[in-house]
Amino acid sequence: MNRYIYLGFLLFIGLLFLGSEGFGAEMGQFRYKDFKKPTKCGTCHRGIYQEWKASMMAHSFSHRWDEVEYFQLALRHAQKEPKVAGVKAGCVACHSPLAFLAGDIPPKPVAAETRANEGVSCEVCHNIRGTTEAEPYNFSFIIKPGKTKVGPRSDAKPMGHKVEASSFIKSAKFCATCHDEASPYGAWVKETYREWKAGPYAKEGVTCQDCHMYRAPGKAALMGPKRPDLAHHVFHGSHSPTKLAGAVDLALYSNKHVVSPGDTVKIRAQLFNGKVGHMIPSGSTEERMLWLEVWAVDATGQKWALPVDRKGFPGEEYTIADPKALAYQAIGEIMEIPGFKGLKRDGDLPAGARIFRKPFFDPKGRMTICQWYTAKNDLVDYRIGPRQTRIETYTWQIPQNVRGPITIKAYIYYAQVPSSVGKFLKLPADEYKPILVNEATLSLTTE
Ligand code: HEC
Ligand code: HEC
Ligand code: HEC
Ligand code: HEC
Ligand code: HEC
Repeated sequence: MNRYIYLGFLLFIGLLFLGSEGFGAEMGQFRYKDFKKPTKCGTCHRGIYQEWKASMMAHSFSHRWDEVEYFQLALRHAQKEPKVAGVKAGCVACHSPLAFLAGDIPPKPVAAETRANEGVSCEVCHNIRGTTEAEPYNFSFIIKPGKTKVGPRSDAKPMGHKVEASSFIKSAKFCATCHDEASPYGAWVKETYREWKAGPYAKEGVTCQDCHMYRAPGKAALMGPKRPDLAHHVFHGSHSPTKLAGAVDLALYSNKHVVSPGDTVKIRAQLFNGKVGHMIPSGSTEERMLWLEVWAVDATGQKWALPVDRKGFPGEEYTIADPKALAYQAIGEIMEIPGFKGLKRDGDLPAGARIFRKPFFDPKGRMTICQWYTAKNDLVDYRIGPRQTRIETYTWQIPQNVRGPITIKAYIYYAQVPSSVGKFLKLPADEYKPILVNEATLSLTTE
């Protein structure tokens, strides 16, 4: 190898691991052909293959938003900002581990249909033997391909390969190797495992696998036995409307049921996270939005969006929708757009809606969706923790022009990405459209 390229390579690896202790998987350690294609495993593991193929794991490199964020933002940024140079390979280490291990960095775009598109495949997870960290994060898995696959059971009789029973693959730490992440600035930008660990489910022994790979009768392989408790590879998360539906419970109350124009009514919305084993939203917290809209509608269809009462905690301004607030200026800098002032911080939310979020800030102090460019995110965390209740109140003076009975309607919505960012980057609309999580209604009679 040319000496300069070699030195560049060493510097690059050094930057990549800056801030992390020890080496897990290494770039260029293996070749693509050391790993079998998922279709090969699928010839015998047909049901599991179908589940995996439909999950986000199979699309972790190829789905549109991942492709746009990597190629249009992170990769460009890595080429001009030395502090974030490591993400050129780092993103790929979690989103397409085989490409990283094969040294295929940066991978070809999705349309080239290379093996990078396999994403988090069978051979990634079933060759992971452990981690270098006591509390894993940043792709700190130890991986070794070969004839022996790692699995959960000691009584499996495979064909054409061997298996090694492992307790690691059944643990939350296994998932943590990719689901927790520290930025090059040392900020925790993904903490699903750490949130789970601090909450009630870890204490009760309910793991990530229990909720995301539910156990139900089925066959692991066509020629294998029927098992009562097969681990299904659905990996449903926020991309699954059924997983999100009802994830947060919602109830509405008011201090009066009969009102007249000019009266002040107090409405209380009670939210409870009874289903999610970690914070909601979790994972890509920098761009996920969960919010509560409360509307009043009268008999003639006139509508009022009610603004939430302020509580006065530090950083609260980031949790209340403000149609005038701008953010995400780093996008314009990275894309070199002259005069870029930012995008609407809260997308198309009505003014005064409560947003359950944890804002991330870049080194220049601006709110960002670039998790790799996050220097600080501990100003405020107003998400909803596992089994946590949040109460929001609305003090509303009934307008003079109100007609007939009033219906108060509350909606909890979730979005993967702020709509302003989605539209600006021309993502397909279903990557940022609001998904209904829950709704509740309350009736007020007028006299
Ligand atoms: C994101 C990681 C991941 C991916 C990708 C993945 N698996 Fe698994 N698989 C697991 C885990 C974790 C378990 C064990 C779950 C448990 O029992 O707690 C498992 C269990 C299994 C089992 C045993 C199931 C049982 O209950 O007997 C088989 C067989 C299997 N996987 C095959 C596959 C195949 C084939 C693919 C690709 C089509 C695949 N896996 C993709 C993580 C993964
Ligand atoms: C020729 C058929 C065949 C192919 C191809 C195949 N397997 Fe298997 N595999 C089996 C059978 C049979 C079992 C046993 C199932 C059981 O006992 O429930 C098994 C079991 C497993 C298990 C579960 C072990 C456990 O602890 O329960 C894993 C993991 C696994 N295979 C991974 C893979 C991966 C990854 C591939 C692709 C590289 C693959 N298999 C390809 C037939 C196959
Ligand atoms: C090798 C890295 C890796 C491992 C190990 C891993 N994941 Fe993931 N996981 C990912 C990536 C990358 C994504 C993002 C997919 C995307 O682009 O939206 C993801 C997404 C998810 C999602 C979100 C799906 C959705 O609908 O949005 C869930 C749920 C999930 N993983 C659960 C698990 C569980 C449970 C485990 C452990 C059994 C696990 N993962 C292990 C890399 C990994
Ligand atoms: C008690 C059940 C439960 C447990 C335990 C659990 N989850 Fe979840 N998880 C959910 C539900 C329900 C959702 C859908 C709501 C949401 O998106 O937050 C979800 C969502 C997710 C998402 C998508 C988050 C987002 O907002 O984009 C990821 C990623 C994820 N889980 C990973 C994990 C990992 C990793 C673990 C273990 C450390 C884990 N989960 C443990 C129930 C659980
Ligand atoms: C430590 C592993 C890891 C690293 C490093 C990593 N990611 Fe991810 N990424 C994940 C996981 C896990 C998820 C899923 C979280 C969730 O569902 O909320 C995810 C989610 C995403 C999403 C959201 C996908 C969606 O469907 O909404 C995008 C976009 C993304 N990552 C891009 C990147 C880019 C670009 C980089 C490099 C700057 C990067 N990731 C680095 C693990 C990682």
